[in-house]
Amino acid sequence: MKKLWGGRFTQGAAKSVEAFTESISFDKRLAFYDIAGSTAHAKMLAKQGIITQKEAKEIVAGLNQIAKQIASGTFDFKVELEDIHMNIESALTEIYPDSGRKLHTARSRNDQVALDIRLYLRDEAKHIIEKIKHFQNTLMDISEGHLNTIMPGYTHLQRAQPVILSHHLLAYVEMFQRDRERLNDCLKRINTLPLGACAMSGTTLNIDRDYVAKELKFARISENSMDAVSDRDFVIEFISNCSIIMMHLSRVAEELVLWSTGEFSFIEISDAYTTGSSIMPQKKNPDVAELIRGKTGRVYGALMSILTIMKALPLTYNRDMQEDKIPLFDACDTASASLTIITEMFHHINFNATRLRETAGSGFSLATDLAEYLVKKGVPFRAAHEITGNIVKHCLQNGETLEKIPLNAFKSFSESIEEDVYKCLNLDNAVNNKNSKGGTSTIEVKKQIVRLRNLLRKK
Ligand code: ARG
Repeated sequence: MKKLWGGRFTQGAAKSVEAFTESISFDKRLAFYDIAGSTAHAKMLAKQGIITQKEAKEIVAGLNQIAKQIASGTFDFKVELEDIHMNIESALTEIYPDSGRKLHTARSRNDQVALDIRLYLRDEAKHIIEKIKHFQNTLMDISEGHLNTIMPGYTHLQRAQPVILSHHLLAYVEMFQRDRERLNDCLKRINTLPLGACAMSGTTLNIDRDYVAKELKFARISENSMDAVSDRDFVIEFISNCSIIMMHLSRVAEELVLWSTGEFSFIEISDAYTTGSSIMPQKKNPDVAELIRGKTGRVYGALMSILTIMKALPLTYNRDMQEDKIPLFDACDTASASLTIITEMFHHINFNATRLRETAGSGFSLATDLAEYLVKKGVPFRAAHEITGNIVKHCLQNGETLEKIPLNAFKSFSESIEEDVYKCLNLDNAVNNKNSKGGTSTIEVKKQIVRLRNLLRKK
């Protein structure tokens, strides 16, 4: 098959080279964006008198026809035509030989591919933002139902202080809120039109880039043609955002794995969201959560790929950059699928409130409350810490718990301890007294819910 760039060649490319250099196997995914870009470009060329209106009409009609074929699965993608851009241009030229051959005027595949990726990412980023929002709303709904569920909060995976389950879940809602903010911010930079940079230095033809930007709803146009075709920093930014999202998801997933063990028994994931073992009949495994954890590594890998692909490339376009799409698509699909399944799964998780409460009260989790009680009685914090530490040591040696110690025994550790100490050694009080801003008291957590609900109503 004669190449669209075949003029200066006397010999066709070797089959092995065609197979090695093709990108159609993966960039066909950009087809509709490529068509949208070409449509706007053709209209602009006609408006500027570079091609006739009739030619533009034919181009647009031909592109529509191709779009229909692609949508119905009847389009014949050809490896010999390398990539999506040439597959579409070549098909167009078959339908309208004269006008089709004019489409690539004042354009290069270098600015064309940069445009396609930006159009694709603009949509994908929005989809992922919506999916995060959906997950946040699910966590919010569950939080609202668990304002009275007390659970242990951990540091070093050792029981630290009691919190309410809502507070724990809302911590993740906050993290995903920042993930959405980051994506929205990255969208601002994605939303720049590179078309018109042509190969790398612009064109001698009288094009109207602002018109194309308007047609394709770009907020701005790139200001330097070399930058426009050279950089993929917006792809890097996007995948790094996906990596952070996955990092957050992996932490949620890890907790689901831990919490569903017999040892923790904090949650039960319904059968439909777990899998069994091929040998051990008793097993019910949290594979979905484990896979989210695992797929996080895959997205980090995508980030490393794109960073390394772009490293030390001289300006401007280099074919290396064709490799950008594989990690990009994979990172997108993985983050997107993980968000969907985790949201779904959370609707099928049962929290064991009794067990959570039991565990929250054990392990001297109210020791800090006791130390703060002493502070309120005028004891300096360091001394209060020491006294409380001694009391915990006494309990450990005698198999006792804090709330069971008689007042006279307390007094032997500190004269400042009085009858009201037992109030602070109560689980519900311990939680509800943590009413500093952002603390775990029900009042503070309700404020968080109101604030987050408001943020979620916005974009
Ligand atoms: N398939 C190519 C890519 O994805 C399109 C641009 C090719 N440009 C070139 N000068 N060979 O990067």
